[in-house]
Amino acid sequence: ICARFQPRVLAGRRILMTAGPTYEALDPVRGITNISSGRMGFALARACAQAGAVVTLVSGPVSLPTPPGVTRIDVKSAQTMRDVVMNAVGAHDVFIAVAAVADYRPVAPSTEKIKKSADRLSIELTRNPDILADVASLPAPPFCVGFAAESSNLDTYAQGKLVAKRLKMVVGNLVQDGMGGINNQVVIYDAKGRYPLPRASKEEVATGIVAHLASLLN
Ligand code: CTP
Ligand code: CA
Repeated sequence: ICARFQPRVLAGRRILMTAGPTYEALDPVRGITNISSGRMGFALARACAQAGAVVTLVSGPVSLPTPPGVTRIDVKSAQTMRDVVMNAVGAHDVFIAVAAVADYRPVAPSTEKIKKSADRLSIELTRNPDILADVASLPAPPFCVGFAAESSNLDTYAQGKLVAKRLKMVVGNLVQDGMGGINNQVVIYDAKGRYPLPRASKEEVATGIVAHLASLLN
């Protein structure tokens, strides 16, 4: 279907999103990141904009073009992503966290390039803030949608995140089905049940997610 003829089911909605990986610096030239390409988040941002929403996309390091009509803010670390999100969230009524946020960051990144010396090197890590959980526990939270990337037990873990983070909707996928790739196979979870979408391109999956989101909002 040509996008021009899709109904504008998200008209008037202001949607804040995160996408891509984060990058947690270890020293000026090295860091911890993950295999997220940003494609699912960017496809969803594009689909939301096509459906009539005003979209702000906070993106970790990716090599993707900004979808038409989307306002993009680039960040590297989870902490910066959280700062930008917290600053912007008040002006939005929906928050969709697609980013594969690093759960941990180095405790003390080195300002100088780390030199090799001993045979073994340990790096101490500390927990990053949970951006989605923090947004969802604001006094007047936006409508919060999370993603759940799992390597097994998708239903249990994804439904657990729906409840634990107080979300309205979770999009779950097995990492081996989607992360870093072109296609994706997801299951949507909400308060009423589970809704598997067919395996398809991330663009088609994004259209299915928008339809479900719109049905919950309207
Ligand atoms: N998320 C986030 N900030 C984090 C970690 C996760 O906003 N520091 C968001 C992700 O964008 C996603 C959801 O929380 O929407 C679930 O992320 P996921 O990594 O699957 O779950 P975690 O809660 O981090 O739990 P775990 O990695 O242990 O499964
Ligand atoms: Ca995680």
